[in-house]
Amino acid sequence: MFMKVLILGGSGLLGSKLVAAVGKLGHDVSYTFNEHRIKLGDFKGYKVDVSDVQSLIGAVKDVMPDVVIHTISLKGTDIYETNRDFADKINIDGTRNILEACKIAKPFIVYISSAFVFDGKKNIFTEDDNPNPINYYGESKFAVEKMVMSSNLPFMITRVDQLYGWTLSGQEGNTVTKNLRKLEMGENVEEISDWYNNPTLADNAAEVIAALINKSRNGIYHVVGSDFMNRVEWGIKTAEIFGFDKNLIKSKNSEKLNLPAKRPNANLSNKKAQIDGGVKLLSVDEGLKFMRKQINKDD
Ligand SMILES: NC(=O)c1ccc[n+]([C@@H]2O[C@H](COP(=O)([O-])OP(=O)(O)OC[C@H]3O[C@@H](n4cnc5c(N)ncnc54)[C@H](OP(=O)(O)O)[C@@H]3O)[C@@H](O)[C@H]2O)c1
Repeated sequence: MFMKVLILGGSGLLGSKLVAAVGKLGHDVSYTFNEHRIKLGDFKGYKVDVSDVQSLIGAVKDVMPDVVIHTISLKGTDIYETNRDFADKINIDGTRNILEACKIAKPFIVYISSAFVFDGKKNIFTEDDNPNPINYYGESKFAVEKMVMSSNLPFMITRVDQLYGWTLSGQEGNTVTKNLRKLEMGENVEEISDWYNNPTLADNAAEVIAALINKSRNGIYHVVGSDFMNRVEWGIKTAEIFGFDKNLIKSKNSEKLNLPAKRPNANLSNKKAQIDGGVKLLSVDEGLKFMRKQINKDD
């Protein structure tokens, strides 16, 4: 079924990959940007500040979307701990504005949440497990999940974790692109040994989310990569796959950093998303090789 899809936060890492993935399925895609006016093919971009409900209403009225994908978020985990008012302004008040603007079109709403809604106290978390955040970022993401679920709009919540992939000019780097830049220069890369994640190739997450939307799935999905590993292991794999010296990856413990927010080390099961979406969620090896292939076509 042909759909009009509005991607809020299209200028971000996952948002821009979603524009490509949903567009590839033949839907009519538009997107928003705020500070970074990033041009994405021929897709229509709207300047929107989530704090300004009128800017949201303007975009929604113009597109009258069947689907809204909400990827807007304040970036970084620690800033949520140290600046709760600002975090609330973007995530909570911002989502209230989004839901208000959505009243005009009553779309299916997809919210991009996080593995950090969990406490990490189980070996593996499925969609049936109850969130129990241990930091303010997780609390904020869980609060928005609940706002979306009680909005009376049909919804899908997709929880992602540690997104990586090639960025466009004007976008911020991610763990892999930042590490590659240092490795290329022959610089040491300090990575954290006690933070475990499901690293997730953003292009792959976008493809899975697009497939789930295309198949009219709803409810909660864990859209994460298929490995659970610490940052040092991830850094070493990055060096190996891109042909850099893996001895440049140095291990350090997060305790020394004294960061404001605790990390939950939550391992999410991605089975449901793979089965219902019909698209494989990649391992770190596969994701990094995908990135290498994008620069090295003879691979
Ligand atoms: N990155 C991860 O590892 C990770 C992990 C778990 C969950 N998530 C979640 O996944 C989603 C996407 O993450 P991402 O890394 O792709 O995000 P990102 O690259 O930081 O992009 C965030 C988007 O939000 C927009 N935005 C920020 N403040 C805004 C405001 N005041 N008004 C309107 N738009 C605003 C940005 O627009 P401009 O750049 O144009 O200002 C950008 O398009 C987020 O909800 C995030 O919480 C991400």
